[in-house]
Amino acid sequence: MARPKNDTFLRALLREPVDYTPLWMMRQAGRYLPEYCETRKRAGNFLNLCKSPGMACEVTLQPLARYDLDAAILFSDILTVPDAMGLGLYFIEGEGPKFERPLREEWEIRNLITPDPYDHLRYVMDAVAEIRRALDGSVPLIGFSGSPFTLACYMIEGGASDDFRRIKTMLFDRPDLLHHVLEVTTQTVINYLNAQIASGAQAVMVFDTWGGILPHRAYREFSLAYLQRIIAGLTKERDGQRVPSIVFTKGGALWAEDIAAIGCDAIGLDWTASLAEVRRRVQDRVALQGNLDPMTLFATPEAVAREARKVLDDFHAGGPGGGHVFNLGHGISQFTPPENVTVLVDTVHEYSRELRRA
Ligand code: CP3
Repeated sequence: MARPKNDTFLRALLREPVDYTPLWMMRQAGRYLPEYCETRKRAGNFLNLCKSPGMACEVTLQPLARYDLDAAILFSDILTVPDAMGLGLYFIEGEGPKFERPLREEWEIRNLITPDPYDHLRYVMDAVAEIRRALDGSVPLIGFSGSPFTLACYMIEGGASDDFRRIKTMLFDRPDLLHHVLEVTTQTVINYLNAQIASGAQAVMVFDTWGGILPHRAYREFSLAYLQRIIAGLTKERDGQRVPSIVFTKGGALWAEDIAAIGCDAIGLDWTASLAEVRRRVQDRVALQGNLDPMTLFATPEAVAREARKVLDDFHAGGPGGGHVFNLGHGISQFTPPENVTVLVDTVHEYSRELRRA
């Protein structure tokens, strides 16, 4: 099967030449869009929205209808995986995600199983297939998963946490138990991402949102080692096209060389990193994705344009060529004024063309 009509995103990930810098935004389908809030109201709640392939497809396409984005990302959540592992995910308005049965006892951890993605996560595969049909070859579709360590944070803490006390206590006192959780979760993530690829995902991203809370050595042992096994276990090609992978450890720029060495095609960076500096360290071994501070989108349109140009200049300062995918350094805020996103998209496309002509 041919590449999408707009394959700029895939080309940038593979460090092939592009006419401009492609852009998408983490959490691009979400509450800052009135049309999303409308569909979510119809769904009743967020989980129903994730579990309905038709509505998940509808909200995936909403940001693409408004903005000239270069990729679509599957609408779902990283926590559907522990839900499928039997932990019972639910959301309380204003409090974020929670599990009915967090991992508290050793026997609960020993009983963990790897679910069949075509059974317990069938609704995700159906959404991927439906979104691919609806995109009709316009832009590529990104599939995703949480990293084993980030999923384990929620599975062990039982929800969001300020201090990660439970998982860190387990890490120091019972590393064998934490490794068991990570083993089972890693196999689950590999099967899950490969099922998304088989269903039509054209690139995949692993969100390691909490890897950055770990001490230096523990990051390698409890997060990076499992990310490496995931990359090694992924389907590399489908329909004759390479399926690139992106690894995003928030707060992980100081480990960029190590992340680049696990075999992924791109590294996601948050706004604390300098793209030029990371590029000098990893050279052309991987593409870089990022890294505008999402709070920039609350400033005036002039400031949004200026800060977006700074991100492009920063990457450019690392030398000619190289793969860059423009993104935010983390998810877009629900309070973002939607008009500012138009300014961002236009600036990135126009200014990155100018930089290439200069
Ligand atoms: O990027 C996209 O547009 C794809 C969809 C997507 C969502 N969550 C939708 C969502 C993706 C890729 C995620 C990943 C995700 N989910 C992560 C990793 C990335 C990150 O942001 O760090 C994490 C840690 C989660 C877990 C999670 N889900 C949290 C912490 C929350 C926020 C709770 C809240 O009330 O804001 C969610 C809910 C969630 N996931 C929303 C969306 C659009 C908001 C749900 C709503 O409509 O109420």
